[in-house]
Amino acid sequence: MQEEKLKELLDSLTLKEKIGQLIQLSGDFYSEDEALKVGPAGKLGISPEMVDLSGSVLNVIGAEKTKQIQESYLKKSRHKIPLLFMADIIYGYKTVYPIPLGMGAAWDPGLVKESYEAISDEAKASGLHVTFSPMVDLVRDARWGRCLESPGEDPVLNSRYAKAMVEGFQKNLSENEGIASCVKHFAAYGAAEAGREYNTVDMSERRLREEYLPSYKAAVDAGCEMVMTSFNTVDGIPATANQWLMDDVLRKEWGFDGVIITDYAAIAELIAHGVAADEKEASLLAMNAGVDIDMKTACYSEQLQPLVEEGKISEKKIDEAVWRILKLKNKLGLFENPFRGASPQKEAEEFSNPTHHALARKLTEESMVLLKNEDKILPLVPNDKKVALIGPYADSKSLIGLWAVHADESNNKTIQEVMAETLDKEHFRCAKGCDILEDLSPLGDFGFLFAGAPESDEEKRARLAAEHQEAMETADWADVIVLALGEHVLQSGEAGSRTNLRLPEHQQKLLEEMKSLGKPIVLLLVNGRPLVLSETEPFADAIVEMWFPGSEGAAAVCNILFGKANPSGRLTMGFPETEGQLPLYYRALNTGRPLATSTHSSRFMSRYTDCSNDPKYPFGYGLSYHTSVLSNLKLSTDRMKKDSCITVTVTIENTGDVSGCDVVQLYTRDFVGSVARPILELKDFCRVVTEPGEKKQISFVITEEMLRFYTKNMTFASEPGRFGVYVGLNSVDVLKAEFELI
Ligand code: GLC
Repeated sequence: MQEEKLKELLDSLTLKEKIGQLIQLSGDFYSEDEALKVGPAGKLGISPEMVDLSGSVLNVIGAEKTKQIQESYLKKSRHKIPLLFMADIIYGYKTVYPIPLGMGAAWDPGLVKESYEAISDEAKASGLHVTFSPMVDLVRDARWGRCLESPGEDPVLNSRYAKAMVEGFQKNLSENEGIASCVKHFAAYGAAEAGREYNTVDMSERRLREEYLPSYKAAVDAGCEMVMTSFNTVDGIPATANQWLMDDVLRKEWGFDGVIITDYAAIAELIAHGVAADEKEASLLAMNAGVDIDMKTACYSEQLQPLVEEGKISEKKIDEAVWRILKLKNKLGLFENPFRGASPQKEAEEFSNPTHHALARKLTEESMVLLKNEDKILPLVPNDKKVALIGPYADSKSLIGLWAVHADESNNKTIQEVMAETLDKEHFRCAKGCDILEDLSPLGDFGFLFAGAPESDEEKRARLAAEHQEAMETADWADVIVLALGEHVLQSGEAGSRTNLRLPEHQQKLLEEMKSLGKPIVLLLVNGRPLVLSETEPFADAIVEMWFPGSEGAAAVCNILFGKANPSGRLTMGFPETEGQLPLYYRALNTGRPLATSTHSSRFMSRYTDCSNDPKYPFGYGLSYHTSVLSNLKLSTDRMKKDSCITVTVTIENTGDVSGCDVVQLYTRDFVGSVARPILELKDFCRVVTEPGEKKQISFVITEEMLRFYTKNMTFASEPGRFGVYVGLNSVDVLKAEFELI
């Protein structure tokens, strides 16, 4: 629709119709049966009239369903403005990819972009217009359950992924391609104090700008159409009411002119935060902050009209919000075709598109991290030794993690099923051994969803004893034990904060019992965050971190176990020795008493008296079946002018006996600044495939822009001085060089 027509449409709307465009409601409000709407509407406190005027739908997806809702909505609508359908398609829809923390470990934005193009095609065919993704909150505290959804702890890597995901989802929206993306959660939700869900976030503006904001800005710069406000406070003001964040930074500084939507019920939560006395004041604060869409409360629907009538909000302000929403609907072509991509036939094609599963398989293989491989026990040779696959994840389809809510995991193959395709009966047996959790009560009222068949305590005890017995016998029969353990799906993800990140005691006990049989043990971990493996690692000869791996997880992990794929995953969030170290991150300041170099007596240094300062597995770490060596680090100059750059070259040699991929990582350090600077900062990285014995020269370019930071007076600039350059296959084992920025 031409913009002037769109403007005429806006001007033709009544105030109630305008306010309707600012409301997002869930699917239960759009039931064909009017009576069914009364319940949800009453519960929410929204008038039926405003329900019929609402402008977007939360978490409804499916070609038939979205078409049916759109059709009946438009029939009743005077203004004929189509509904926007939005849902959480975070890391896959029907084909599910690894959780983003696993995708991050692939260090492969290119493949992620391709994968998100495929995700976009599936979701578009199901009538989706906007996805609440990418989630690019920086995460440094593994106690927080939503580490699962983030690419990791580094601003540069998260920014690369933000760009790749936005471009993958949106393609060329104006050409009726892709779906709109919504970057979240703006801002710094991942810094919730103590890793406790929805907790306070409080940090300096310098840290916010330097570490937590870049990935959101990368999404905005990539053309992301929407931004979602986070639940948390930023400098004491909840993001949803934070005018500095939403208007000064996002709209004025970054030039974002898209749509801002709240997180779920976040406007009403301003009351609990204590910044609004009631829903009217909460609505005023959110509107003044620049929030366009109120997700799932009655605040905007019931309070905006009185606020306009009382002159506390201008109708112009309302118009600006409605205009942004109309522009998005227009950009998606909804006025010409309200059903856009929704097509049952196209759905069937996309859901069964073999390239999607091939992409998922490749990305899943690249996401898995080989943490340990004592005596090169891996890869296993098929049908060489007798393999016992044991554990609650041995034959489980629950491999897609918490935020793949629209997928059907019954289509997933289990590790047992795939392994049985690879090994013959003489060389393969499987037994469960134990439940993922013995007690589901910590999972709260969702736990019952996973309770399985009802059983008495006595029946449960008998079942567990029999399963345990079978597992021990199966392991006793075997030459090699593959043990598939990990987190329950509800232990990670939203509202999954935990203070104990170790395997459940009964899983640990099973591992130790297996070890007592004196056979090599390969531990497979299915989890959504870094775990504390200090007491677990000694009992395993090899450890494969497989995350919640998605639809292709079983196939991918078997390819890795049997050497069809050489693991190349490298952690993008370190694994702590213990929870007490958290938050823990590599990009840390040196402190005045650094353990490594302080001249104080051994006690009076920045350290713990009962634990190392270091992670058990650092950022950038991962093993492969080949080995590689870096050498010959060279800089094109050791004195760099501000208007020039430095070329960094390094040689990588595959010293192993199989081809493989490494992630060569470039870090710098600014030794002296007007503010203290991190001991290491990732600046660039690349994946390098080499054949056995092959040498390759890799080069990076360091520009002056890469050396900028928020200086003492908060200008974003570089400062002259000495810099370190570090190149490694992880963040610890690095080659070093120095240069002077003059
Ligand atoms: C949830 C999440 C957010 C999600 C939204 C809609 O509470 O915080 O990430 O997009 O609600 O489901």
